[in-house]
Amino acid sequence: MTAPTFLPGTLAVLVGVSGSGKSTFADGYPPSWRVCLDDYREMATDDMSDQSATPVAAQVQNLLLDARLARNLITIVDSVNVLPHVRAGLLARARHWQRPAVAVLFDVPLTRCEQQNRTRTRVVPVDVLRAQHQQLPTAGQLTAEGFADVHLAPVPVLTSGDW
Ligand SMILES: Nc1ncnc2c1ncn2[C@@H]1O[C@H](COP(=O)(O)OP(=O)(O)O)[C@@H](O)[C@H]1O
Ligand SMILES: [Mg+2]
Repeated sequence: MTAPTFLPGTLAVLVGVSGSGKSTFADGYPPSWRVCLDDYREMATDDMSDQSATPVAAQVQNLLLDARLARNLITIVDSVNVLPHVRAGLLARARHWQRPAVAVLFDVPLTRCEQQNRTRTRVVPVDVLRAQHQQLPTAGQLTAEGFADVHLAPVPVLTSGDW
């Protein structure tokens, strides 16, 4: 997939397990477009995996989403977003500002995510990764939830050197 172009004001929600390549994808766009719960958890606690900071991180994210969507700016939500209620909250925000919401689905095989997870700055426990993978929605589900468009992220090809 060539990197999708987003219309002004689009809320682009990345959906994929840890290690599936979401942040690498977001790196292809201007840094100011990206909101990321890991970053805000780290800024609040010095530990991006400290889930006790998720409520404050979500508040920071929501403030930024509202500021950007109000200005018709493109915003990329670089988080796992495998839970339907999390996506529903993001869709509601886009609806509130009358902005298009699109999803980018990282439907990457679990073995590949596990392999890439090991190269991340923060290695996520493998049982967490597997649980996330079980919750991964299909493109059809995302469309049914209300995303105007669903882009499929490229599935990285496994090579023998990866094993
Ligand atoms: N298409 C790809 N091919 C090879 N390595 C990749 C690819 N996408 C991501 N990676 C590597 O996999 C690891 C996890 O990617 P990352 O973007 O941090 O995933 P996520 O944000 O979904 O957890 C990183 O070390 C990254 O460099
Ligand atoms: Mg990431």
